[in-house]
Amino acid sequence: MIAMKSECILVIGANGQIGSVLVEYLKEIYGVQNVVASDLRMPDFPHGIFEKLDATDANALASIVRKYKVTQIYHLAAILSAKGEQEPLKTWQINMQTYFNVLEVARENGVSKIFYPSSIAVFGENVDEKAEQFSYLDPATVYGISKAAGENWSNYYFKRYGLDIRSLRYPGIIGYQSMPGGGTTDYAVDIYHKAVKGEDFECFLAENTRLPMIYISDAMDATVRLMEAPAEKISVRTSYNLAGMSFSPKEVAASILKIIPDFKITYKPDFRQQIAESWPGEIDDSKARKDWGWRPTYSLDKMTEEMISELRKKYQLVN
Ligand code: NAD
Ligand code: SER
Repeated sequence: MIAMKSECILVIGANGQIGSVLVEYLKEIYGVQNVVASDLRMPDFPHGIFEKLDATDANALASIVRKYKVTQIYHLAAILSAKGEQEPLKTWQINMQTYFNVLEVARENGVSKIFYPSSIAVFGENVDEKAEQFSYLDPATVYGISKAAGENWSNYYFKRYGLDIRSLRYPGIIGYQSMPGGGTTDYAVDIYHKAVKGEDFECFLAENTRLPMIYISDAMDATVRLMEAPAEKISVRTSYNLAGMSFSPKEVAASILKIIPDFKITYKPDFRQQIAESWPGEIDDSKARKDWGWRPTYSLDKMTEEMISELRKKYQLVN
């Protein structure tokens, strides 16, 4: 357990799949008064400090940073892989402009640390089935291109200005608390909701498409563990590979069937299949393990048990 710090943390993109869980996680560690959540719109049930913010507006971002004397920024706002392909140039503009604003506002206002989430989408078709930390990056989506560029800008701001930016290449994130927002790995959350509600599931990826994934609790632990690590332990200033588990739609369905034997899945691959095929099936995260002691704790079956149990509570269904 990490002791409470005199930090003020701004989370940008706080209403999303990760942000809505991360904000609560950070509040437990740093205190409710030390976490400022922000997003384009107010949440339905705001709790704690919330500021409406369009992060493409640098002045609006700067005034929030000054108002709260922000010391750390977690910059989550982005358009994800599948949604990004619908509007490539707008996705590039939003993903890059928001990040440039964060970098410049942080530099000019003495923000000491930044968290930048990157993604397995930085890898492309020339990567090995198990992506090494320093693989060649040839992303196939505008989202992946923006994340690879963001990683390089992180490294640049660290080297040129000494800005302490830390980053993880998240795999697909799976959690019961929130819904995903337009990615290629979204099926792996939707499938649990359908299974628990007793509905059949039509998967938009083919049955044997293996992708790296991680349970939300492990992702939260990795994020704060990285941010709390002593600076001298951080040897990668682009972004760390992060792995939890890898599975295909067929394998996650088999895991669900152990608890819900009448669950049915069918497959109807769409444009997201091509995106998934450009990503590696596995990630080598040995650098993160060596540098700052990262270890995942959830297997596929352990995650399935918790997802089903928590979603049954959410939908008020009996076991
Ligand atoms: P999400 O789509 O669920 O949430 C993104 C949030 O950003 C939304 O609430 C949206 O309203 C907000 N946003 C968009 N544009 C904004 C703007 N201009 N100003 C302020 N807020 C804005 O995404 P997520 O799944 O929570 O992902 C968070 C971050 O983690 C993203 O950068 C994403 O690329 C990265 N990531 C996510 C996954 C995953 O599986 N969820 C995997 C790899 C990386
Ligand atoms: N889960 C994300 C997506 O599918 C990966 O960054 O877009």
